[in-house]
Amino acid sequence: MHKKFAVLAVASAIGPIASPVLGADPARMKWDNVPKSQITLFYPGQSTQEWMTSAAHKAGATGVNEGKNCQSCHKDEEADIGNAIVSGKKLEPNPIPGKPGSVKVTVQAAYDKEYFYLRASWPTNAKEAGVFHDYKGYKDGKWSTYASGRTYKEVKARTAKVSYEDRLNFMLGDNKGSVANFENQGCWVTCHNSMRDAPNEPAKEQVKAHPVLGDAGMKKSDIRKYLPETRTAIDDAGGWDKVRDKTTLDALMAKGAFLDLWQARAYRSIPVGKADDSYVFQYRNFDSGKKPFDSNWDGDKKQPKLMFDPAKNKGAAALTEAQFRDPKAPRLDDTNSIPYDATKIRDGDLLPGFILNTKQDGSAADLNASGTWANGAWTMTIWRKLDTKQKDDVALVPGQTYPVGIAVHDDASTTRFHYVSLPLKLSLGKKEGHINAVELK
Ligand code: HEC
Repeated sequence: MHKKFAVLAVASAIGPIASPVLGADPARMKWDNVPKSQITLFYPGQSTQEWMTSAAHKAGATGVNEGKNCQSCHKDEEADIGNAIVSGKKLEPNPIPGKPGSVKVTVQAAYDKEYFYLRASWPTNAKEAGVFHDYKGYKDGKWSTYASGRTYKEVKARTAKVSYEDRLNFMLGDNKGSVANFENQGCWVTCHNSMRDAPNEPAKEQVKAHPVLGDAGMKKSDIRKYLPETRTAIDDAGGWDKVRDKTTLDALMAKGAFLDLWQARAYRSIPVGKADDSYVFQYRNFDSGKKPFDSNWDGDKKQPKLMFDPAKNKGAAALTEAQFRDPKAPRLDDTNSIPYDATKIRDGDLLPGFILNTKQDGSAADLNASGTWANGAWTMTIWRKLDTKQKDDVALVPGQTYPVGIAVHDDASTTRFHYVSLPLKLSLGKKEGHINAVELK
């Protein structure tokens, strides 16, 4: 894959680091020698950017509007904020029983001449790894959701079971302030009323009817992360529909006004050695090229797109209910699948909601990832070239400091039901950050 690690030598600004780091896979690097940052992530509920800049945030809104960093008022309050919100006392209309308000994540970072390495460990609420995703099930002649994330309507109505992947998310801005307020407001610049599970969420039909985001353009049916500078105005619905014209957007993108978003996904990317490489701009977009996963759902025909090749799956085109969340069951991927054929499907069959791509390409293939869940905790590692030379990635340069945010999803939760950091800084070869990457030599 790439060169072996030689010796982790003295990183000038950090001080001496003694032992050698050996091994081709950074997951097996001697990370013990790399400084650890303990970062508390908290449950944010519906604290969107619109909430944060509104009177409901009291003195906070004034501070934020004056350009103060969240850290200047909330440093070391993460656990308290998370507890207040997760309980349903504020900013959370749909509390999840038993969900903790915060989680402590241990973060380490390193780089060499070519690569940057990020490693994070956190204890999960569930007593098992979330290494499965959603499933479709065939019953009485039709396909429907058999299992999905905890907050999906079928799961809440108990017509579907709980199953979703865990993940580590990392958001990276450049060091020129190209995205307004990211340094001071962190991930909140991407988080708006109108997004999935946020206040004032538009109906599917409204999104589909939108000339840019909908059927005539990007073919979206819901709203995901975006940056305020991609909208002409922000209102109580986050300005989701007020997308700027293409010329303005192209110019913004060309000057680097986007955020790089890395997601190590325990089902949809880590098994193929990758993290999902995306960027937040007018939407949460996937980087160009073949990504580690694709949807296996044909929305028009209301059936899976692909099924197992029976010749490669002991004669079966699908999984049985007994194989639900079975670590020994095969994952559907581009090497063991064929187009869906209804004549091969039996009542009670299951198929994964997503297909894995063992071969990725283009900018979507930039992020390598590995992950291990042991003793109740995940350890995930993502590594990438410092400079991928891609238009949809933020390049990292040794000696520089970058605004970043970290989040994790676990316990079969998705969308905003995650844990997030306050705005953070990542330094390469200096001690200026909340996370300080050391040089490997
Ligand atoms: C100038 C100080 C200040 C700044 C800057 C600030 N806040 Fe606040 N924040 C407050 C105050 C004051 C409250 C209200 C506490 C209360 O009502 O008990 C609050 C409340 C909150 C709450 C609700 C939870 C709670 O315990 O009340 C959240 C979430 C929050 N802030 C997030 C943020 C985020 C995210 C940022 C940065 C984008 C930020 N704040 C910036 C002062 C600030």
